[in-house]
Amino acid sequence: MLDGRLGSVGGLVDVERGIISREIFVSDEVYRQEQERIFARAWLLIGHESQIPKPGDFVASSMGEESVILCRDAGGAVHVFLNSCRHRGMKVCRYDQGNTVEFLCPYHGWSYATDGALVGVPHAKDAYGAQLDRSRWGLIEVPRMERYKGTIWATWDPEAPSFSDYIGGYKTYLDLLLDAWDVREGGTEVIGGVHKWLVPCNWKFPAENFSGDRYHGVSHRSVDMVGIGPSGQGRRDNRERNEARWLDVSFPDLGHSMIAFLRPPDAEVAPAYQDAPVVADYFRRCEEERKRRRGAGWRLFGGPGTVFPNASPLARQPRTIAAWHPRGPHQTEVWRWYLVDADAPAEVKDFLRHYYIRYSGPSGLTEQDDMENWNYAHNASRGTIARRHPYNYEMGLGRATDSFEDHGLALPGRISVVTGVASENNQRGFYTRWRQLMEAKSWADLVPR
Ligand code: FES
Ligand SMILES: [Fe+2]
Repeated sequence: MLDGRLGSVGGLVDVERGIISREIFVSDEVYRQEQERIFARAWLLIGHESQIPKPGDFVASSMGEESVILCRDAGGAVHVFLNSCRHRGMKVCRYDQGNTVEFLCPYHGWSYATDGALVGVPHAKDAYGAQLDRSRWGLIEVPRMERYKGTIWATWDPEAPSFSDYIGGYKTYLDLLLDAWDVREGGTEVIGGVHKWLVPCNWKFPAENFSGDRYHGVSHRSVDMVGIGPSGQGRRDNRERNEARWLDVSFPDLGHSMIAFLRPPDAEVAPAYQDAPVVADYFRRCEEERKRRRGAGWRLFGGPGTVFPNASPLARQPRTIAAWHPRGPHQTEVWRWYLVDADAPAEVKDFLRHYYIRYSGPSGLTEQDDMENWNYAHNASRGTIARRHPYNYEMGLGRATDSFEDHGLALPGRISVVTGVASENNQRGFYTRWRQLMEAKSWADLVPR
């Protein structure tokens, strides 16, 4: 329950009619409840195994508002710890990444091994005698951590479903991001560092935009004219998208979604990028291999999506995954990981790296457009008068289907196909799950799937 002024969460989110209160974006009370009911319970993206290949490697990450450490211990096991000393809470790791044998707290000097054990306590004998049971004061570790095709996910809730159940049928779409371009299982790695920046808006603005907002083409008109795409046209490699059916795919009972594309059965192998012979040859071979291995499923490719609540894959180029970390109701810290095929030639990785720089992040020509909208939309929704008036999510209401088939190919998810335009099928799916989690006291209360 929220405080008296706001009533119940259900009253703020009417997905059946496509009406959602601005309060869920700007209210301190809603935000506080989200931290407990969503971020302390959901599976959250932590990082990628390729960031910590060797024993002792670590990267700082984030779960909701809180800093965590992802590290590989001396024996090679992977852990996720709360980045907070057990003595007085000091951050034990203040670096973005590195390699270490221990995390030494800078305040009073307690030190922790890479498996989280409290191994060093200055003046232990004098100060504590036999009193301190070190085995009870190691770093706080997430109770559940799972790896999926290189990515690492964790939840603070021991009652949460397995990651596999949490993802469910969305696996088909997440795999479009995480498999290699020629569809070998999980053949991707992170290139470069994690891009991090702040945007003055609520975390749900980017999460719902990536979930399925293909209506905002006008925002990107200028970058389309510049032609930053890998083929030197538009902002992406558009030719195969133009001939495809555009599908808004949502799993309302899970909250996940993606804008996916289905090419016609007689489509030719996608045109390879022409910048350099090595690059063109690589992608042509991958596409041929994809067609050979995936059968009819070859026709499906992915676009932007959201793994509920705050991880957003972009499955085609620029191939990335982002986390939208809440930093208060009015601010989001964006983290973006860039993916390439692990065994691609250096020329291909470099070609993609340049494209990713042109497109993404605070200096990328496309992502700038989005951030400007979220920034001003959020601020213009905060006022006393503004927050009395809800947003409209009616687009495509009633047009989704629960079983989708195209030329013998069936696809999972509640799919809305609104030819040529767009729908808000995926955004409604996202808020359906948001409302379920906000109203449920525990995982056991949630509707069985
Ligand atoms: S806060 Fe870490 S040793 Fe005191
Ligand atoms: Fe956009």
